[in-house]
Order: sequence, then structure tokens, then C-alpha cells
Amino acid sequence: MKRVYITSIIPEVVFSALAKKGISFDVNEQGKSLTKDDLKRVFSEYDGVVTILSDHVDEEVIASARSLKIIANFAVGFDNIDVMAAKAHGIVVTNTPGVAGEAVAEHTFMLILACCKKLIEVDRFVRSGKYHKWDPLGFLSHQISGKTIGIIGLGSTGIAVSKIAHSGFKMKILYNDIVRSEDFELLSGAKLTPIHELLAKSDFVTLHVPLTSHTHHMIGKKELTSMKDSAYLINMSRGAVVNQEDLIWALSENVIAGAGLDVYEHEPHVPHALSTLGNVVLTPHIGSATYETREATAMAVAENIIAVFEGKTPFGLIKVG
Ligand code: GLV
Repeated sequence: MKRVYITSIIPEVVFSALAKKGISFDVNEQGKSLTKDDLKRVFSEYDGVVTILSDHVDEEVIASARSLKIIANFAVGFDNIDVMAAKAHGIVVTNTPGVAGEAVAEHTFMLILACCKKLIEVDRFVRSGKYHKWDPLGFLSHQISGKTIGIIGLGSTGIAVSKIAHSGFKMKILYNDIVRSEDFELLSGAKLTPIHELLAKSDFVTLHVPLTSHTHHMIGKKELTSMKDSAYLINMSRGAVVNQEDLIWALSENVIAGAGLDVYEHEPHVPHALSTLGNVVLTPHIGSATYETREATAMAVAENIIAVFEGKTPFGLIKVG
């Protein structure tokens, strides 16, 4: 009988799907993060492991595997796993593509609105009893409708963001990706734009690229400086896509108007300097945290595992090399 270890408590739908196929599983029910030694032990004992994005699966962890067939990441991103090392050991790595687009796009717009409409500041204003008189010039903000959004990374999330931007806010859309999508351009009026032009022209820049050696620190001092001083940066991808030190500098010096961040360079650590700034809205990596997406992610994880154990190609196979 195949055995699977699940490193965190996840929706139960995985358990029933595995049980139906006669696959046994153990769950890290205490919910405490696994140490490297814990991961090595698990990798040496099981045929499949379900990891979450905070499990760092490096070459050393992978090398401890004996009968392991699959590392099924409970996430769209997979930068937490050394996929090349897994391949070298004959272990399949899967993710859950296409399950989080709408959820992350909603969160992106929540951050855009919260930044632009100063949500945190006005909420504090009301709660602290300062609302004594309606002020025609109080808390003015710019409208989002009709402004320009720059979408960097046109996967399913970038596309979901563009749909809200286009039909909800009638925004002009610039996008940057390694692939041009003419169908997408026809539907949304979007324009494929070189990155520095996108940064210079956008009122909102939103990041939806995976973290790779090419995208690591793709936004730093130079890029932030080329943005408008009235523009906002939204990061829903991975923290290290942005040079966090440079961003803190840009926010402190009002090089840009503000930022909405769901991800950080060294999660779960959030630098004190970031937490003290008034022009940034911070959320704890919850862009995909909807009931619907978690359920869909769980189903995708179960399907990936079952496919690999049945000798089939899983739909979430990460191809490398
Ligand atoms: C969340 O960040 C994911 O990659 O699914």
C-alpha cells in the first residue's frame, strides 16, 4: 500500500480522495512547521509527500528519499522545491496550476483599493473618534476608473486581474510577459509593453510572475525610480521578486505613492521598517486564501498523487530541463 505524508492540515477532500484509492496517509496534525530533519525523515519513509509553500525542500532533503515518487506542492508556486534535484532523483514534482487566479485577482484589487482609498488610515480615523465633521476636502483620493494598470506576468492570475481591470474599472492595460497573447489583447485592449515603459506609464503596477533566477529582484531601485511618484506597486507573487530593501527606501522617500504587499522576501519575517510605514498595506500571504481555492487546490493535489501512483502523467507536472 502506498503511503503519503501531508506536512500541514489541508481540506479534507484530499483525505477522502486518497482513501477511496486505497492510499494511506499521515498528517502533521500539530500544524507545527517541519524542521529540515523532520522533512528528511518523512522523505525517507513515504511514497508521496504533500508540501506547502513554507516547506523548504532542498537537495539534502530530496537526497534522503528512498521510495518517494511524488512531491505534491499544495500551491501554484513551487520555488520552495529544488525541482532539478528532484528530477535527478527520479521524483516527480507537481503544483496546482489554474486554481487561484480569481482569488488572487480579488485580493489584488482589495490592495489597490485599500492603498488608493487609504483604507487603513480612514478606518483608524473613525475608530479613534476623530470624525467630528464632514470635510469636503478630507481624505481625497484619485479614482481608479480609467487609470492605467501594468500587469507583469500574464498567467491565469494576470488574466483574472485584467478582467476586473477592464470590465470593472475600464482601466487601460499594459502587460509584460515573455509570451505575447494576441487573443488576450483583443479581448482586453491590453498592450504588450517593455518593462521600463510599463513602469513609467502605469498608475498601478501589479506583479504576477513566478519566482525564478530571472525574476529574482526584478523590481529594484532602478525600476522603482522609473515609476510615477503617484503610482502604487502591488506584489502578490513572491517577496523576492522585489528587492525589499529598495522598496522600503522608495516608500520612505515617497519615490512611489505606496505599495500593497501580500508577500515578503523572508517570510514570515516582515521587516520592522516596513511595518512602520504609513504608505503600505500589508497582508500575510493570503491571496489565494478563499474556501473555493483551497478546496480546488486540495482536489488538484489528490489528483496529482493518484495519477503518479497509477503511472499516469499528472496535470500539475513541473517540467524542467
Ligand atoms: C500561493 O502563493 C501559491 O503559490 O499557491
